[in-house]
Amino acid sequence: MLHTFSTQKWNETFTDAEQQQTIQSLENGGIIFFPELKFVLTEQEQQFLSPDIADPHAKNISYHADKLWGMQHLSDTGHQQLKSMLARFSHDAHEFIKATLPQYAKHLIIARTSYRPVQICGRVTSYRKDDKRLHVDAFPSAPNQGKRILRVFCNINPHGEERVWRVGEPFDKVARQFLPKINRPIPGSASLLRLLKITKSYRTAYDHYMLQMHNRMKADENYQKRAEQQEIRFPSGSTWIVQTDDVSHAAMQGQYVLEQTFYLPVTAMRDQSRSPLRILERILKQELV
Ligand code: SIN
Ligand code: FE
Repeated sequence: MLHTFSTQKWNETFTDAEQQQTIQSLENGGIIFFPELKFVLTEQEQQFLSPDIADPHAKNISYHADKLWGMQHLSDTGHQQLKSMLARFSHDAHEFIKATLPQYAKHLIIARTSYRPVQICGRVTSYRKDDKRLHVDAFPSAPNQGKRILRVFCNINPHGEERVWRVGEPFDKVARQFLPKINRPIPGSASLLRLLKITKSYRTAYDHYMLQMHNRMKADENYQKRAEQQEIRFPSGSTWIVQTDDVSHAAMQGQYVLEQTFYLPVTAMRDQSRSPLRILERILKQELV
C-alpha cells in the first residue's frame, strides 16, 4: 500500500529504478510516501495557520489560474501573500511530479491547488461532502471524462498532528459491488447539465458512474463499517502522492494540509488497463467516454 522514499527536497532527482517503482506503485493503487519531505512556511506565511481564514461555507481554500477563493477576513496584502503561498506549493508539487513520474510530466494538466486549514474531526457537513466516509474521488461540477486524478498532499501541521486516513478496498472490488445498483445515465441529461452550467464540461457516462459510486459509497453506513480498510497516519512534515480516483480513502483527522491536483489522460499511463475508466468499461462491457 505505502511505498516509502527518503526524499527531502522538492527538486530531488530520482534514479531510473526509483522512477519505475513510483509509476508501478501508483498504477497498482498504491500511495507513494515521503515522510521527510516538508513544505516550510515563511515567517509571514505562518499567519495563515488558523482555521479562521477559511470561509465556513467552502470546503477548502482553492487556488487556480492566479485566482484564490474559499477564504475570508483577509486584507489585500494578506490575499496576495496567501495566493503566493499556494502558488509556491503548486510549483514545488509540479516540479516534484516531474522528478518522480517523468513519464507523466508532459501529459499532465495542472488543476486546482487547495489549502485545508480546518480540523476534519468533528466537522459537520452533508454526507456527500463528508470526506470522513470512504469514497473514490469524482467531482459533480467538473467531470474529467476518464482522466486520472493525481494528487500531492503535504501535512504542514505546526503542532505535530498527524493526518489520519482510512484506505479501503481496491477499485475493482469497489466497482463490482456498487455498479449493479447504479442506473444508466438518463439520455440527454449530460447536455442539459452543461447547458444549465451545472457542469463545467460534458458529464460522460464515465463521470456518471464515478459520481454515483462516490455518492453511494458515502451513503452506505454498513459499507463504511464493513469494508476492508486500514488506517494510515501521515505525520506532520510528510508528503504523499496518490491517485484518488481509484484509491478508496477517507480523511478522519488532522488540520493544515496543502494539496495539488493534476489530471492525466489514461493514454499517458504505462498500463491504462488499470485505470478506473478501463476497469469500468470492462465490467460494463461498453465504452464510457
Ligand atoms: C479527500 O480527498 O477525501 C480528503 C483528503 C484530505 O483532506 O486529507
Ligand atoms: Fe477524496
